[in-house]
Amino acid sequence: MKRMLLVALVACLAGVSLRADDDKPKYTIKEAMKFHKEKLHEKFQKGQATKEETQTLLDAYISMGKQKPPKGDEKSWKEKNDALIKAVKDDNKEAFAKAVNCGGCHGAHK
Ligand code: HEC
Repeated sequence: MKRMLLVALVACLAGVSLRADDDKPKYTIKEAMKFHKEKLHEKFQKGQATKEETQTLLDAYISMGKQKPPKGDEKSWKEKNDALIKAVKDDNKEAFAKAVNCGGCHGAHK
């Protein structure tokens, strides 16, 4: 009985720490921008990104959405990140080209 309780406790703690990891952004906004500097977004647009690279972009935009931009309102920030996340998930290159508008987002949030 004691052992079962211990197992349950360990499983519970593991579950909690996993969830905490999920909530923590994987990349800072600046780190996410490094992928732009490395032109990962262009690779994606040309259909040349590997599965891992596509996942990296997706993680980067999800991470950005969990953080606050240096300026601008939250609603606009959320819309921009949601559009990026959706375009990558849907593999929609046209929507992505619109969403990844560097100047548009920098003007409002950087
Ligand atoms: C959805 C919004 C958004 C889009 C789209 C976006 N950026 Fe950014 N970018 C930001 C924000 C916000 C910052 C400021 C981050 C900070 O200072 O913490 C930033 C900062 C940067 C930086 C400076 C990073 C640093 O280390 O200070 C570079 C370089 C950059 N972006 C490149 C790009 C390029 C290239 C594109 C287009 C392909 C792009 N970004 C598209 C939001 C965006």
